[in-house]
Amino acid sequence: MSLIGKIDNNHLPAHVAIIMDGNGRWAKTRGLSRGEGHREGISSIRKMVEAASKIAIPYLTLYAFSTENWNRPAEEVNGLMNLMVYAISEETSELKKNNVRIQSIGDRDRLPDHARNALDECIRETENSTGLTLIIALSYSSKWEIARATRHITNDVVNGVLRKEDINEEILGEYLTTRGIPDPDLLIRTGGEQRISNFLLWQCAYAEFYFTETFWPDFGEEEFYAAILDFQGRERRFGKTSEQVDFDSK
Ligand code: IPE
Ligand code: IPE
Ligand code: MG
Repeated sequence: MSLIGKIDNNHLPAHVAIIMDGNGRWAKTRGLSRGEGHREGISSIRKMVEAASKIAIPYLTLYAFSTENWNRPAEEVNGLMNLMVYAISEETSELKKNNVRIQSIGDRDRLPDHARNALDECIRETENSTGLTLIIALSYSSKWEIARATRHITNDVVNGVLRKEDINEEILGEYLTTRGIPDPDLLIRTGGEQRISNFLLWQCAYAEFYFTETFWPDFGEEEFYAAILDFQGRERRFGKTSEQVDFDSK
């Protein structure tokens, strides 16, 4: 029986973020190339979009390529870019049909033209969708994002658009690429590593973490629901005491 029936629809995370890790190791255990692992990973993305849409999660962010991943061998980087262009172009009409809106975060300037164009086309085509917002983190890292925000804030202060005494957490959030998107409630990392790898450092200040040994290509709908159920079993205290949290929820 599917775990979907056990999920409490009144306590869903507004935003789930996933570090999709383990494609290379998945392939290695099968004697396949890393590229084949990445290709297989695309089918897991499709499953996650379906599963998140089914339970009406508003935002899903997928870490597809980090700033540090540019340091991988050129062949792998090129293969990943080509795969992304192919997958994005192939899926656009299906995403639109399923009312999914695509957005992206990351350093667009570093993307090859064909990747940036494919992404822009998909963002444009799906901009009126009202269902799941799927955010692709591409050429993204938190340290890049925070440095960029600092530059923009400084510019605005120098140009008199912003007063330095007005800078607070909320204003800083407005300068991040995730502007307007609620912070992740749940962060899932597949592939066995228990680290954040420069992903949404600011935004995950109070996220619940779910780590699994499962390699990304093997991660499916049921394990996604298991992660949601695990999340729903936790007490989020946001610095308060357990008694206060009990009282607040009554
Ligand atoms: C995640 O899988 C995909 C990307 C980082 C692009 P990996 O390629 O990191 O797979 P492992 O960690 O080597 O198994
Ligand atoms: C994190 O995976 C980045 C993505 C999943 C896109 P990595 O495989 O690059 O992370 P590290 O190097 O193991 O920390
Ligand atoms: Mg990895």
